[in-house]
Amino acid sequence: MLGGTVFVSHAIAAEAVRRGHEVSCAARGTSGAAPPGATLLPVDRDAPGEIERLAGRGFDAVIDVATHDLGWVRDALRALAETAGHWTFVSTINVYADTATQYQTTEGALLEPVTEPRRSTGGQLTPEIYGGIKVASENAVREAVGDRALVVRPGLITGPGDNMDRFGYWPARFARGGRVVVPDVPEQPIQHLDVRDLAEWVVNAGERGITGTHDAVGPIRTLDSVLGEIAELAGTADVEQVPVTPGKLLEAGIAHWEGPRSLPLWAPSSHYGVVTHDPAPAAADGLVTRPLADTVRAALAEERARGLHRPRKSGLTPAVEAELLC
Ligand SMILES: NC(=O)c1ccc[n+]([C@@H]2O[C@H](COP(=O)([O-])OP(=O)(O)OC[C@H]3O[C@@H](n4cnc5c(N)ncnc54)[C@H](OP(=O)(O)O)[C@@H]3O)[C@@H](O)[C@H]2O)c1
Repeated sequence: MLGGTVFVSHAIAAEAVRRGHEVSCAARGTSGAAPPGATLLPVDRDAPGEIERLAGRGFDAVIDVATHDLGWVRDALRALAETAGHWTFVSTINVYADTATQYQTTEGALLEPVTEPRRSTGGQLTPEIYGGIKVASENAVREAVGDRALVVRPGLITGPGDNMDRFGYWPARFARGGRVVVPDVPEQPIQHLDVRDLAEWVVNAGERGITGTHDAVGPIRTLDSVLGEIAELAGTADVEQVPVTPGKLLEAGIAHWEGPRSLPLWAPSSHYGVVTHDPAPAAADGLVTRPLADTVRAALAEERARGLHRPRKSGLTPAVEAELLC
C-alpha cells in the first residue's frame, strides 16, 4: 500500500489485513498510523530516491492512491513495477471532462492530462488540475503495467475516517438539533460510496487479478432524500430542516460541496454529472454497497467521539448558519 495512514488507503490496508494478507504501508506516518497488523515502511515520496529502497521486494500487489503528483506515480512504477504482481491505481471521478451529463460510464471523454510539475500550474489544485494529474497518472500506470493494472475511479467517498469533513457534517449537524439550513435543491442528485465498500472491492479485485478501468460509485438518490434519512437517523426531536435557495446561499458567500463556509454535498447543476455516474457496471463487477443507514451510523459514532461542536474543514459554523436563518 503506497499510503495507508489515512482514510481511503488506511481502509484498504485494514481490509487486506482483515483477510489475512501481509500488508506493508509505505508512507511517512505523519497523517496517522498504519492499521493494526500492517507494517509501516517509512518513505517520503518527495525525497528523491526514497521509494527505490523498496525495489526488488516482489510485492504480490501494489495499491497506489497518489493524489496529485505524477512524479510519485512514475517513481513508484520505476521502483516496484518490475517485480510487482497486480497494480491498483486509485484515481477519481474528476477525470471526466463533461461534468454535466448524467449516467456517464468509463467511455466518457477525459480531461487533458496534466504532466507539468505543479509549480508551473501556479501550485493551484483546481478540480481540473487534480483530474488532469489523475489522467496523466492513469496513463503512466497503463503504460508501465497495463496488462495487470486496475484503475479505480471513485466518486464521493464517505464513511469512517473521512478527513474532509463532508458527509460527517450532516449527521453531526442534525445531532446538534434545532433549525438546520439545507440547500433548497429538491432536484439535486447525489451518489456516494462507503469507504469500507470501496476497500472490500479493491482488495477483492487484487485477489482475483481484476484489471481494466472502473468507476467506483454507488446508487443515485436525491440529496433531499439522503438528508431526510440522515436527519431521521441522527437528528434530535426538535430538528427542523430550513431550505435556503441557491441564490440566497451564493449571495451570502456559501460555497458548494466542501470547505469552510460551505454546504457539504451541495453541487451546482453544472456538476450533476459528477454525482450521477452509471452505477450498474460497478455493481456488475462485484461492487456491493451497504445501506446509507450503515454509513450514517458509523459517521455519527465517529462525529460524537470527535465532538459534535469541533471546528470542521467543511460546513457552516453556528454563527454563519444563524445569519442565514435570520
Ligand atoms: N475522498 C474522496 O471522496 C475521494 C473521491 C475520489 C477519489 N479519491 C481518491 O482517494 C484517494 C484518497 O486517499 P487517502 O484517503 O488515503 O488520502 P491521501 O490524502 O491521498 O493520502 C494518502 C497517503 O499519502 C501519504 N503521503 C502523503 N505525503 C506523502 C509523502 N511525501 N511521502 C509518502 N507518503 C505520503 C499519506 O501518508 P503520510 O502523510 O503518513 O505520509 C497517506 O497515507 C486519493 O487517491 C484520492 O484522489 C478520494
